[in-house]
Amino acid sequence: MMRFEFFNPTRIIFGAGSVEQLGDAVRHYGKKALLVIGGGSVKRSGAFDRAVSSLEKAGVSVVEFSGIEPNPRLSTVKRAVSEVLKSGCDVVVGLGGGSVMDASKVIAAGVYYEGDLTEMFVRAERKQRLPDRALPVVTVPTLAATGSEMNNGSVITIDEGGERLKTFVMAEVLYPRVAVVDPELTVTVPPDFTAYGISDILAHVTETYFCNVEEFPIQDRFAEGIILTLLEWGPIAVRDGQNVDARAHVQWASIVALNGWIQAGIRLLAPVHMIEHTLSALYDVPHGAGLAVLNPAWMRFALRSAPGRFAKFAERIFGVTGGSLEDRAVEGVKRFEDFLKTIGCPTRLSELGIGDPDDATLQQIAEDTLKVRRDREGRLPGYPALTKEDII
Ligand code: NZQ
Ligand code: ZN
Repeated sequence: MMRFEFFNPTRIIFGAGSVEQLGDAVRHYGKKALLVIGGGSVKRSGAFDRAVSSLEKAGVSVVEFSGIEPNPRLSTVKRAVSEVLKSGCDVVVGLGGGSVMDASKVIAAGVYYEGDLTEMFVRAERKQRLPDRALPVVTVPTLAATGSEMNNGSVITIDEGGERLKTFVMAEVLYPRVAVVDPELTVTVPPDFTAYGISDILAHVTETYFCNVEEFPIQDRFAEGIILTLLEWGPIAVRDGQNVDARAHVQWASIVALNGWIQAGIRLLAPVHMIEHTLSALYDVPHGAGLAVLNPAWMRFALRSAPGRFAKFAERIFGVTGGSLEDRAVEGVKRFEDFLKTIGCPTRLSELGIGDPDDATLQQIAEDTLKVRRDREGRLPGYPALTKEDII
């Protein structure tokens, strides 16, 4: 078992109606908030008005920054940093999905970052310069998926210098101070995006599960608990979006799947995520939809080198018994893929509109992925590590 340290300072205020507590939560950190939002869903749903009213009631003034795109771009983040510097905001509130929350973190750190913001992000050929200071961030998720509300990560597409490279940063100063998690804010997420969120949460858990190569049994059990909960409650949230209980269970699952807890003692490498980030950078597909295509495909490839772990997954999650170890491993992946299909996720590139990708397209997906991260042998780290040909 690996040695590990666990740290997560984000306070969670969870439950239906908790958005009313936003103002109280924020006023401890600042008097003027940059309220970061996406393309307008929060205005249509009423979440924006509820957030502003709670902030103003607590004596916090609000400067709005709207227009963070799904798969957020660095150029937009930079405009928001200028807005903070101009308006003198002292706290950043991210009200939206993972894209808005991720952007909010980099905005908060960008205010103090010296030099070019691109250097904050992971890139294979360059040393990363981590941010060491940031404005306080408060997150208010409106979509259950990324777990960004309680973690120190941010995924951004660098869209400068003729590039479109989606990469990430993880830094201690990026942990939100507070996450105000109100499942009622997620009831307007349409069935397709609800399903993509579930696919994302599942991928966070399975990528962790299949990195548990030194056997840390309690981590397997935590992970299995999250997956089983999603198999039970996920379809209800997709079918009956107004069901706040189902929304709450999926949302808490999204948080515990990627807040560091189930990853403690496990070296998370997440090769499927690395490849998906390239897909969503090049084709602007929703992250969870890209994962639903790639995750079962990766599993079929990886089970050849670790059939025992995949058979365990099949037995414990889907109750698969009988046949050889390999048969059970293959059956587990099939059931996992079937589940994704039943909730309405795509499982083939063609369903993402990337029909019949030619050689050049696949080459670029593999090459761009390896631009972000590769080991000394030029492979994408993971169990197993993937060569460019493997990715293709
Ligand atoms: O932009 P608006 O108008 O708000 O609409 C959004 C967007 O179109 C909409 N939406 C959000 N809340 C809604 C809603 N629609 C109706 N009702 C609501 N309550 O949903 C669309 C997708 O939003 P987005 O924020 O892009 O989705 P998600 O939460 O899946 O975030 C995806 C981003 O997070 C990154 C992904 O790579 C991607 O860029 N990730 C971040 C991680 C992290 N920080 O730890 C880890 C993840 O693995 C992931 O990579
Ligand atoms: Zn993800």
